[in-house]
Amino acid sequence: MQRVESEVDLDQILITEDEILGCLARMGKQITADYDGKDLLLVGVLKGAVMVMADLARAIDRHVEMDWMAVSSYGSGTKSSGVVRILKDLDTDVAGRDVLIVEDVVDTGLTLSWLVANLRSRGPSSVRIASLLRKPDAMQMEIDVDYVGFDIPNSFVVGYGLDYGERYRNLRCIATLGEQAHE
Ligand code: IMP
Repeated sequence: MQRVESEVDLDQILITEDEILGCLARMGKQITADYDGKDLLLVGVLKGAVMVMADLARAIDRHVEMDWMAVSSYGSGTKSSGVVRILKDLDTDVAGRDVLIVEDVVDTGLTLSWLVANLRSRGPSSVRIASLLRKPDAMQMEIDVDYVGFDIPNSFVVGYGLDYGERYRNLRCIATLGEQAHE
């Protein structure tokens, strides 16, 4: 366990490394069963989903392929706007594939609902969503997240891929930021 208390601008640990890994192991088992006989393509959303993808993919006990998209949601600071631009598109043709989007967090849901619509327009067999975190009180779009790790309060979190100004992605746990760091 990393020493969060030595980072002055972190507030408290919300989810420990053990809890994250246990949760992703269970999620991977469920996905293994649900996609039996299917042509599964995991689509990770850069950069935040890198850690989730690495541990979730290894918890899935069947053949999977991985691809990545990078999108930018126009907005300022810690707020999402829903206007999305593709920075890096998939290398894979998803037509006829079973696509599972792998996300770090569903906050307002604006980015993800745009992404689901975009991928659906490419003719896949199915598009589903797996997210480590979801903030039910922040959601502005009706969006079905098929696999959810943890529902968390509507506060800004970092770690395990999630950043604040590109920092904290390598933290092993999920933590909240102190007031000072957030302003
Ligand atoms: P949404 O469009 O509001 O659902 O937000 C989508 C993206 O915003 C996520 O994939 C994250 O990259 C980022 N984001 C949302 N909430 C947080 C947070 O608490 N910490 C770090 N990044 C976040």
